[in-house]
Amino acid sequence: MATEGAPTASSDPAASSPQAVVEHASAAAASLVLERVSVQFGGLHALSDVSFQVNSGEIVGLIGPNGAGKTTVFNVICGFVKPTAGHVQFPMAKSWKKETLAIRIVLWLPRAIGRRSSLARRLGHRFTQAGRAIATFVRRVLRIVRVRVPEKNRHLRPSQLARAGVSRTLQGVGLFPHLTVLENVMAGGQTRPHGGFFTSLFALPQGVRADRVLRDEALSQLDRLGVASFAPRMPGEIPYGVAKKVAVARALMCRPSLLLLDEPASGLDESELEEFAAHIVELRSDMAVLLVEHNMGFVMPLVDRLVVLDFGEVIATGRPSDVQQDPAVIEAYLGVQQ
Ligand SMILES: Nc1ncnc2c1ncn2[C@@H]1O[C@H](COP(=O)(O)OP(=O)(O)OP(=O)(O)O)[C@@H](O)[C@H]1O
Ligand SMILES: [Mg+2]
Repeated sequence: MATEGAPTASSDPAASSPQAVVEHASAAAASLVLERVSVQFGGLHALSDVSFQVNSGEIVGLIGPNGAGKTTVFNVICGFVKPTAGHVQFPMAKSWKKETLAIRIVLWLPRAIGRRSSLARRLGHRFTQAGRAIATFVRRVLRIVRVRVPEKNRHLRPSQLARAGVSRTLQGVGLFPHLTVLENVMAGGQTRPHGGFFTSLFALPQGVRADRVLRDEALSQLDRLGVASFAPRMPGEIPYGVAKKVAVARALMCRPSLLLLDEPASGLDESELEEFAAHIVELRSDMAVLLVEHNMGFVMPLVDRLVVLDFGEVIATGRPSDVQQDPAVIEAYLGVQQ
């Protein structure tokens, strides 16, 4: 691992303690905030008091030696692993909360007006009852078509992630082996409005159109990552590096606002790395990226900030140039590499 880079005094408030990172969250447009997250597997403390944030438009690298807890952090964020303490917040989910509030106001208004109107008085409670029944019906429909984020604790269930704008790739590849590369990528766009059960069953025109749009976008995502020529192939027939890019293309299909990439560059050769890094930098304008990667040559120039884990604890956060000089990091991580 490279250790070069001039040490610079950090003026970034997010570059000091993990607590400072979380406090900084309220000021910045945070996409993701982890606050004092701990995870225990039996007697093993996989994560202890892990706090950090990822702001929108930021690329944050999560690094650390093998077994440091990086993938566990991803699993907590995605709701696959429940933290034994602490919590994860998705401040961007606030918009859902606002939407819920707006909907509540819309539902409440007719009832409020009804209660005060002479018509309501004449009809007794019927008007209000009818309003309530309509409100309940609308709420039920909304529950089906919208993510409802709990207001106090914004943990998202895995099934809510894509609709809430969170997408991830796995440390392995995780492609569906019996679908083609193109179909795998299309599968990532299933949260989009599409025709529904009967439209698909009877191949109605609107379903065919929605399918075509999905297919075109999947192809353009593959093209963006330089692997469109593999579209008709099966996952078992393509090189590992290509499969990793296909997994990224699939993750992008739900147009996330927060993208979690677990070792996306493994399997890529030196010539592909630079191009792939440029693709990730491009994503910054649309989303926040949290990136786990062991290849320091790839990570260092790419990320805005680093969070370093060791034995489940955050031992350093800050700009790559600062973190590289941190004695704890050199001992725990860089030292291992040298
Ligand atoms: N489901 C689980 N049950 C028990 N222990 C687990 C589980 N998942 C992870 N661990 C343990 O938690 C620790 C952290 O694992 P994790 O996979 O998060 O590390 P990592 O930093 O992603 O490692 P790597 O760089 O090798 O991918 C390890 O000691 C691992 O063995
Ligand atoms: Mg891992």
